[in-house]
Amino acid sequence: MSGSEARILFTPSGRQGSVSIGASVLDAARALGADLDSICGGRGICGRCQVRLGSSKTIPLDPSRVSTPNLVELNYAGARPLREGNRLGCQTRVMGDVVIDIPPDSQVHRQVVRKRPEVPDIEIDPVVRLYYVEVADSILGDAVSDQRRLLHALSEQWELDGVRVEPRVLADLQRALADVRPGVTVAVHDGSDVTAVWPGFHDRLLGVAFDVGSTTIAGHLCDLASGQVLATHGEMNPQIRFGEDVMSRVSYAMMTDGGSAELTTTVRNALDAIVGVLAAEAGVTREEILEIVLVGNPIMHHLFLGLDPTPLGAAPFSLATDQSVRIEATSLGIAVHPLARAYVLPCIAGHVGADATAAMLSEAPHRSDAVQLLVDVGTNAEIILGNSQRILAASSPTGPAFEGAQISSGQRAAPGAIERVRIDRETLEPRIRVVGGEHWSDEDAFYVEVEETPVTGICGSGIIEVIAEMFSSGLIDADGVIDGTARTDRVVADGRTFSYVLWADPEIVITQGDVRAIQLAKAALRAGIELLMDHYGTESVDQIRLAGAFGNHIDPGFAMTLGMIPECDLGSVSGAGNAAGTGALIALLNRQSRTEIEDLAERVVKIETATEPRFQELFVSALGIPFKTDTEPVRRRRGRRASA
Ligand code: FES
Repeated sequence: MSGSEARILFTPSGRQGSVSIGASVLDAARALGADLDSICGGRGICGRCQVRLGSSKTIPLDPSRVSTPNLVELNYAGARPLREGNRLGCQTRVMGDVVIDIPPDSQVHRQVVRKRPEVPDIEIDPVVRLYYVEVADSILGDAVSDQRRLLHALSEQWELDGVRVEPRVLADLQRALADVRPGVTVAVHDGSDVTAVWPGFHDRLLGVAFDVGSTTIAGHLCDLASGQVLATHGEMNPQIRFGEDVMSRVSYAMMTDGGSAELTTTVRNALDAIVGVLAAEAGVTREEILEIVLVGNPIMHHLFLGLDPTPLGAAPFSLATDQSVRIEATSLGIAVHPLARAYVLPCIAGHVGADATAAMLSEAPHRSDAVQLLVDVGTNAEIILGNSQRILAASSPTGPAFEGAQISSGQRAAPGAIERVRIDRETLEPRIRVVGGEHWSDEDAFYVEVEETPVTGICGSGIIEVIAEMFSSGLIDADGVIDGTARTDRVVADGRTFSYVLWADPEIVITQGDVRAIQLAKAALRAGIELLMDHYGTESVDQIRLAGAFGNHIDPGFAMTLGMIPECDLGSVSGAGNAAGTGALIALLNRQSRTEIEDLAERVVKIETATEPRFQELFVSALGIPFKTDTEPVRRRRGRRASA
């Protein structure tokens, strides 16, 4: 190293090397590949390049090894205040060997740390980025168009070449360049298209991730630079008035003239309204939203895209497209920036949609050696099984029983619904807890709570718990038959079968029909899982993730008691949160994740339960509680894992 050079070490990346004395820290970071952010290109405007002096074993912390603050830094008054002890990397010059720490806020590819330790963090690398450029004036006699001068500036100042300017941006560009301010900020989509222009310096870039469920639609408004969620809003899917479950909505589309278009308009209006609420909550304008990501099951996917969902209602369940969709957001009826783009994740099959691919992004089975079973239970169960070697997917027609439908006292999980049940093994007396309450029915406080929130019915998680508890306490046998000789007057005759009176006022009774409905639903789910395990060649799984609103409320112990899921160490079974919504957020914040999920969707092996002869055999075995192991065909497996 010559006397005109100094050593610089960046933390936490560990990037290091020699730079010329007098080089700016920002230039040094670029030269050495250290991740230091900038929108203004080193003009002391954006405040994104903030760094701190650090030390190492061989390099002490010594402020004299960098330049003292210059006038630009001293007068800096950008939107991102200079934190105490921080320096602007673009204005700070290297004067001797130095350690420079780049805090997470100043990293381009910073990580959003997720609360669950078992899932990967999200690296921020959005598909759209902001660049501030100073565009040369047009000169009489050598007049160059606004567009060419902008492209030249992007190439010179940011090394961005081959960029296209969207024709509809030209008017904004004209206005911005006519402004007296020296520069403009542009949004460049995917490194290739200028999709927005603002006069002067602009620092905010927003996106919305939507999870379009059959029951609820949730939107998350995000700052694309920091990954921060600025607002979240969910609403009931207003399509519910056309049918509770997706299949009844497909029937509506089939039977009604213009029904499909009506369903599309309804869901699009809801998406647009949610954007309005999100923008108001965060105090931003709709026009600042430049990117949208949508996920949903295949029928929701087709409906928000304006595609006919009726082919998904009957064999062979053909999707209009299984590939990702890139489209202008406004063409979906969502009022945001006129050139905002929408990205829709790929689907896998007629019943395994973009919500499942999003859940895969979130739970990342393909990045792990452990064999993961990922289950999202709704009217259809979407089932993913595999690891880094191989991924299989299927759906299974569980019907709506797990959501409380088809159950005599069933209801949605709303305040007043019984969600937790315990049955005393000796007395066969139940204890319950309701949604919205904190106390069990054997506590006095429970009766204060029900004054406010009366018991109204039983929801999906409650019905699973009560049937699992009835089984564990001997009230029902392995065939699911309620024992009429049980020593409790809570078991009452009901025609030729028996029922269990769970609650007296209002009367909430678990009938033999209710037990049968849950047996059928869980047999469909388990048969689908067993079929995938069979195809995969494994007798066990290492991890189980239960996704979706319902998955998060099921107690895995009860799910295992009923045989809904295979035996697995309980510590390895967890709720996956809103995995589809998180996957949408990942696709919003990280451009590479889009390629990753597109590649993965191509590789997923689809297993069609409807045409698999073994499905019926497994279904019959799975009707028993927990599972008819004596006739269990899975035991005939060779039992070698694909990864072995
Ligand atoms: S790079 Fe913008 S203030 Fe330093």
